[in-house]
Amino acid sequence: MTRRSIVVGCGHYLPERVVTNEELAKRVDTSDEWIQKRTGICERRIADDNQNTSDLAINAAQDALASAGVSADDIDLIVLATATPDETFPATATRVQAALGMTKGAAFDVQAVCTGFIYALNVADNFIRLGQANRVLVIGAETFSRILDWEDRTTCVLFGDGAGAIVLQGIEESGDAEPRGILSNHLHSDGRHHDCLYVDGGPSSTKTVGHLRMEGPEVFKHAVNNMASVLGEALTANNMTAADIDWLVPHQANKRILDGTARKLRLSPDKVVITVDRHANTSAASIPLALCEAVTDGRIQERNIVVMEAMGGGFTWGASLIRW
Ligand code: ACO
Repeated sequence: MTRRSIVVGCGHYLPERVVTNEELAKRVDTSDEWIQKRTGICERRIADDNQNTSDLAINAAQDALASAGVSADDIDLIVLATATPDETFPATATRVQAALGMTKGAAFDVQAVCTGFIYALNVADNFIRLGQANRVLVIGAETFSRILDWEDRTTCVLFGDGAGAIVLQGIEESGDAEPRGILSNHLHSDGRHHDCLYVDGGPSSTKTVGHLRMEGPEVFKHAVNNMASVLGEALTANNMTAADIDWLVPHQANKRILDGTARKLRLSPDKVVITVDRHANTSAASIPLALCEAVTDGRIQERNIVVMEAMGGGFTWGASLIRW
């Protein structure tokens, strides 16, 4: 018998405050037209000063538990992907654990920036398949607004805050030729590209929080190539082609990156779930936010082939292929 992980619930949380491109144009030398044309972003949500990453994550987790019809007592493990933790330590996941009233099991953070959710999902899937956990909350939550240089127009217009979560549960495969659940995960990193995308601060180096710094065009080039290549890798591993994909749920970095990736794979744009126009880039939260939207509005149906993929600072990149 093979154990697999299936998604039994999805949740999300977006801060109430909407910041439009016009509003940003009052702060830095930019325009709604430039931002929309280069990125597809129209607006983003920004957390209130008194809202931390854990607050966003707790709301998304509660929503996911409700949608799965389970309580915090039913959860064995929380894996939270974030690059903007509340504090250097402890893990933001333990804050979520306490707020949910969970006193058993384990909770920890995973850090792979925009690929964080794929890394967290892979970790959770491994725990489930090894029998070390049966029900796992996998969360992506970020407050990138805290690490942006709000004077730098080349970066501050691209990001937003938010959180998404799923409940992953183990099932014994019953010999079905087309089993449901996560069919494969694919993770990569190449640390040589550190200087293309990083935060110029940290407790060990500068003893400050720092700001996000990025070589935009260089990131763009790698993003399209790496996302297309890891998607190809996931399809090959499952003897599938792009025609088998029902829904692509990519990390929402930039509409042009998403279009470029779909074009490279000859995938119809109608099969790509897009939220970047309203959420901007929410790093580790972007995939679960987009996933939750497409599940809630009924686009993603049972047994659909769903592929999630991402690329982020490091560089890190990866994909997960699921039969829903
Ligand atoms: N408003 C107006 N003008 C701007 C802005 C802005 N917000 N930002 C940059 N410009 C200017 C530049 O200064 C430059 O002006 P110049 O020609 O006078 O020097 C001009 O616009 C063109 O700049 P480029 O950087 O070449 O513009 P490009 O077409 O590459 O678009 C962008 C920039 C949108 C950042 C693009 O490179 C990109 O999407 N890169 C990927 C970045 C990304 O998604 N990062 C997220 C993290 S990684 C991930 O999630 C995958």
